[in-house]
Amino acid sequence: MGRLDGKVALVTGGASGIGRAICLSFAREGATVVCNDLRVENARQVVEECGQQASGLAVRADVSKSRQVTQMFARLAKRFSQLDILVNNAGIGLDNPTVRARFNTVMAKQQAELAKTGKIETALEATQNLSDEEWRRMLSVHLDGTFYCSREALKIMHKQRSGKIISIASICGMTGCAGAPHYSAAKAGILGFTRALAREAVVSGVQVNAIAPGYIDTPMTEGLDDNVRRALAMATPAGQFGSPQDIANLAVYLASEESNFVVGQAISPNGGYVIA
Ligand SMILES: NC(=O)c1ccc[n+]([C@@H]2O[C@H](COP(=O)([O-])OP(=O)(O)OC[C@H]3O[C@@H](n4cnc5c(N)ncnc54)[C@H](O)[C@@H]3O)[C@@H](O)[C@H]2O)c1
Repeated sequence: MGRLDGKVALVTGGASGIGRAICLSFAREGATVVCNDLRVENARQVVEECGQQASGLAVRADVSKSRQVTQMFARLAKRFSQLDILVNNAGIGLDNPTVRARFNTVMAKQQAELAKTGKIETALEATQNLSDEEWRRMLSVHLDGTFYCSREALKIMHKQRSGKIISIASICGMTGCAGAPHYSAAKAGILGFTRALAREAVVSGVQVNAIAPGYIDTPMTEGLDDNVRRALAMATPAGQFGSPQDIANLAVYLASEESNFVVGQAISPNGGYVIA
């Protein structure tokens, strides 16, 4: 018997990294998986890996676009008479090549300065150099996406009088991450949204929580320079990045009935990077 038998779960950004591991774990625990992503071919592949070609569903939608989200939920409602679990996971990191190259260069320079003189002189200056578009894009994928998907999911879950909403935040939303002011703001926004929504939705039998991962080995962190990766691993007491499965294990717990009294929490699997 699986811990999620008979449940229907929608995972946004499920085609890669943490989302993919969550889809696979949910399927192993008996849930039917709806895998959303911009890259629908990869989402289809994940549904196949789940062994759910016939029973599951892959849906292309950009979660930052309200209309596409309502269309995705319309497709879901046509196919399933329930939605038990929503994981707001879709996200982007420092994927803008100019922003990323600048970050890697300055970080390398800072490390060289620290090694040579024991003092960092060069500032990241990420905020001064951030464009309106980059700021908006980051907030819209993470924060707008989480709001749009939660709003639609709640319409179903409220009627059911049951459901689980899990949003993937980040340690950057707790401590702030230098070089990623837009990402940190978006993730902090998700934590605030989670706390407010948790208070209102629990009355309808819906538990809302967040997961705030530390550094995890996924395609998102592949773009970090080796020296930056080493520095981040060293700043993590566990001495290494986590795996997508480390996050998926917690997602299964939060999606299951074992966590029914867990409301509005931000749980952070981070190898000790943040201990609070
Ligand atoms: N990897 C880490 O170290 C780390 C740490 C903390 C939090 N997170 C968060 O975990 C989540 C998953 O990240 P990951 O590391 O697995 O990254 P990833 O790049 O492997 O996966 C992200 C997925 O989201 C999809 N996506 C991006 N924008 C989308 C959109 N607008 N609509 C639908 N799908 C979209 C991508 O196509 C991709 O498949 C993100 O929210 C990320 O911010 C990651």
